[in-house]
Amino acid sequence: MPIKISIIGGGGRVGSNAAYALQLGGIVRGIHLVDANEDLAQGEALDLLHGSSIAADQLITAGPASQAADADVVCITAGSRRKPDESRLDLINRNVSIFKSILEELRTSRLDKNAIIFVVSNPVDILTRLAIEHLGWDPARVMGLGTVLDTARFRSLIAAEMKLPPTQVKAMILGEHGDSMFPAWSTATVAGMSLTKMMDVSKQIDLFKRTQGSGAEVIRRKGGAGYAVGVSIAEVIHAIALDRGAILPVSTRMNGHHGLKGTCLSLPTTVGRGGVVHAHEVELWPKEASSLRASAAALDETWKSLA
Ligand SMILES: NC(=O)c1ccc[n+]([C@@H]2O[C@H](COP(=O)([O-])OP(=O)(O)OC[C@H]3O[C@@H](n4cnc5c(N)ncnc54)[C@H](O)[C@@H]3O)[C@@H](O)[C@H]2O)c1
Repeated sequence: MPIKISIIGGGGRVGSNAAYALQLGGIVRGIHLVDANEDLAQGEALDLLHGSSIAADQLITAGPASQAADADVVCITAGSRRKPDESRLDLINRNVSIFKSILEELRTSRLDKNAIIFVVSNPVDILTRLAIEHLGWDPARVMGLGTVLDTARFRSLIAAEMKLPPTQVKAMILGEHGDSMFPAWSTATVAGMSLTKMMDVSKQIDLFKRTQGSGAEVIRRKGGAGYAVGVSIAEVIHAIALDRGAILPVSTRMNGHHGLKGTCLSLPTTVGRGGVVHAHEVELWPKEASSLRASAAALDETWKSLA
């Protein structure tokens, strides 16, 4: 069934790049942009609409949040981005109040009872948890981008370094989308061959460091992430739209996974038309399992500090 996506923050860099990736994907039926800067949202929608005769038969619109009422997926990208020397968690004070006001607007706009909220704004794991608790929705219908972008960066950097085809590299970054993210080298393969057997430990450390520093590097060099986060968002939305059952490291609420409860973070998760189908309790190396617990502890501490 064709689906409509509303992007709140759709005038911004992340939102508009996601909209462009969705246009080129040609899978969703409607792309609706909402932004506090209405003119910017109208401008981005107009620019996309001008290309629609080449790209795809889609309905591209801009307007207020109330027009998100019939959306199947509401993707929230609104909020401030990080300054170069700022951690994602530092953003919390600035983004929580913006985020709460958006949730209130969505509550009053009476979203469809099957709609899915997809959080991208940072700190994404904290805001995903806030959305679940504030709206009181079934956690299956709320997810965050989590480490989907970090995973994409990790795979792409490994492929470039090892001269491998990027789409055939499988490796995941799990935990927090932030300082405590960790590489699950136990999952790292290319065409079924273990990547850890193909590179020494110093290269592994370097590739993870470059992945972890990618967000800050892109902000420093061009002001903010755009294309890679755009295609990452589109990958998740396409998994929902096509009921693909794709396994992606989106951020979801833990319910006993690895002994964690309540925290939102990334594990490999089956995503389909109903949202979160199943977060998998993967077998991790002991070092990775302790990194996962450290990520959860860092996120829980931040959660407790929310006013
Ligand atoms: N999860 C991830 O992997 C990931 C990756 C990159 C960026 N981000 C986050 O995405 C967010 C957006 O980044 P950006 O580079 O697009 O920033 P941006 O400044 O380019 O865009 C943000 C947009 O949000 C709009 N906005 C602010 N308050 C609003 C409100 N109440 N309602 C509607 N729109 C509102 C602004 O007008 C602006 O157009 C940031 O929080 C950033 O940290 C997350």
